[in-house]
Amino acid sequence: MDKLKVLTVFGTRPEGIKMAPIVKVLNEDNRFLQRVCVTAQHRDMLDQVLKIFDITPDYDLDIFQHGQTLTQITTRAMEGLERIVKEFRPDVLLVQGDTTTVFAGALVGFYHQVKIGHVEAGLRSGNLYSPYPEEANRKMTGVLTHYHFAPTKEAAGNLLMENYPPEKIFVTGNTVIDSLVQVIDDSYIFEDDFLNSLDYKNKKIILLTAHRRENIGEPMVNIFQAIKRIVEDNKDIEVVYPIHLNPNVRSISDEVFGDIDRIHIIEPLDYLPFANLINMCYLVITDSGGIQEEAPTLGKPVLVVRKETERPEGIEAGTAKLAGIFEDDIYRMISELIHDSKLYDEMANAVNPYGDGRASEKIRDILINDHFNNNPF
Ligand code: UD1
Ligand code: UDP
Repeated sequence: MDKLKVLTVFGTRPEGIKMAPIVKVLNEDNRFLQRVCVTAQHRDMLDQVLKIFDITPDYDLDIFQHGQTLTQITTRAMEGLERIVKEFRPDVLLVQGDTTTVFAGALVGFYHQVKIGHVEAGLRSGNLYSPYPEEANRKMTGVLTHYHFAPTKEAAGNLLMENYPPEKIFVTGNTVIDSLVQVIDDSYIFEDDFLNSLDYKNKKIILLTAHRRENIGEPMVNIFQAIKRIVEDNKDIEVVYPIHLNPNVRSISDEVFGDIDRIHIIEPLDYLPFANLINMCYLVITDSGGIQEEAPTLGKPVLVVRKETERPEGIEAGTAKLAGIFEDDIYRMISELIHDSKLYDEMANAVNPYGDGRASEKIRDILINDHFNNNPF
């Protein structure tokens, strides 16, 4: 029997983390012939993920350059991917999420009439400029997609409202959970002495990440100012901030935080220590997409420092709150979570709206069923 040929494409840290379990299940199944292509839109941050999950890509387009424009990322990724699609001639091309790599991959696949499988399909904020350019990437990818792998019922509902055919939409859970359950260890010890030295029991450790393009500028200054004031006003707070490699983020952080005691700015962490740090901290403040999914699963309250979110499930479940992008709002909401233990306990509820850790297996089965039995459920 002919194998099902799958080209799995990703380019950045979060795509790598969420594609890794799919790469694994397809590689272990001899009905598939899978090749992995990284665009390397990210370099160091992607290499960290490849190392942790022990993935050696079959193709590495190595398109990373500092300060590339969105157009440059798109065109360089497309040119590289086209050569590979022509050579490998996949039956299915898999992309994950909402980055420029995702849209470039889907468009190249479509041009060559390869079926596109979109993992984490259907998330919508309703605002084309927030998250930017991710909301547009998701919508444009959706148009080109054959298999919409929606992580939740809400995401599937968004696709139905946009009139995609129901038989092409599959609720699978989010593969982020497949990865998370592999790495969390309640007695985890960091390799880094500094992270081991933090007093997780007696101090309130806040884990901060911020990188979104639409936050760069005034919103990010506001977010950092609020956190700086919180640290100045509360002696039992320590902030750990594994900072994104984007130099625009770094310059705002330098400008606002400078060198403040109890705000620890560290390099991006490998996924294993990062996920375990979520599990050990008191509270998460983030504009990240993936972390909004991981923190509720681990029962950690999350303040989402954005205007809107395409991930309402954590908010509906009560573990996440939208804190916005204004200094006073953010300050007040952090303050409440520090001082109001009832509110904190209500939010620190482990809920898992994002799946059972078997999304990759479901995606594998859907692909096989459709391809060999021509039975798309
Ligand atoms: C990208 C994605 C975003 C995703 C984020 C995850 C797009 C348009 N953006 O944003 O959707 O949420 O990744 O982190 O696809 N850099 C390095 N080394 C790295 C990675 C980045 O130095 O390994 C620096 C470079 O200077 C680069 C800058 O960060 O120019 C921005 O990287 P880019 O991939 O353009 O966008 P991100 O902000 O990382
Ligand atoms: N992450 C990591 N190290 C870090 C920060 C984040 O491994 O220092 C992981 C995190 O657990 C999540 C993913 O990276 O799975 C989120 O990436 P990011 O915030 O860059 O992208 P987004 O999810 O917003 O697209």
